[in-house]
Amino acid sequence: MTSPAPVTPSSDLHVQVEAMRWWHIQAAAQLDRTLFEHTAWSEAQFWSELARSNRHYVVLVTSTGQVCGYAGVAWVPPEADVQTIAVASSMQRCGWGARLLEHLIDVAIKAQCRRLLLEVRADSTAAINLYTQHGFVRISKRSSYYGPGVDALIMERTLVDQPHVGRSR
Ligand SMILES: CC(C)(COP(=O)(O)OP(=O)(O)OC[C@H]1O[C@@H](n2cnc3c(N)ncnc32)[C@H](O)[C@@H]1OP(=O)(O)O)[C@@H](O)C(=O)NCCC(=O)NCCS
Repeated sequence: MTSPAPVTPSSDLHVQVEAMRWWHIQAAAQLDRTLFEHTAWSEAQFWSELARSNRHYVVLVTSTGQVCGYAGVAWVPPEADVQTIAVASSMQRCGWGARLLEHLIDVAIKAQCRRLLLEVRADSTAAINLYTQHGFVRISKRSSYYGPGVDALIMERTLVDQPHVGRSR
């Protein structure tokens, strides 16, 4: 399968956040392979996630129909977990990651959750900065979780009576 052409940001490019549907899965899985390589989710994993009632997934879609990001959250009150969040390389650093994360936070609050947790590679500076900017704090570490010497950090944000921190669009 060939990779889709990268999305080129421009002033007339319209991008919106919408619910992930089955017809977005192929493109989301392809983007996942590009961004996460050997830890990427298969299309079957996306299908399985979308089938669960305590999940919510969104995609970033351009006006030309290209999927350029996605994110998902799972919840079992009082806790929720960020399952994934990703923005295509060509669209990064434009505020879309923050927009997706804020959407997940809102979903978790509406699901009556009091804590939002996530797991992130300790060497993923971009993601850690994004989470820290949105009020997440590190609560523990799983040594070599992603392979020898690549730790996972567990981060948490309290959802009760805490306004969004960081930029909103
Ligand atoms: C992490 C990720 C989703 C951020 O998406 P994004 O659209 O680039 O993020 P935003 O433009 O909304 O940036 C929000 C904040 O994140 C941090 N950030 C984003 N990219 C960064 C980078 N390259 N270096 C350092 N900090 C960065 C900054 O704090 C930024 O705020 P600022 O622009 O005011 O400085 C994106 O880099 C990505 O998809 N990475 C690959 C997949 C991944 O690692 N996902 C996380 C799995 S846990």
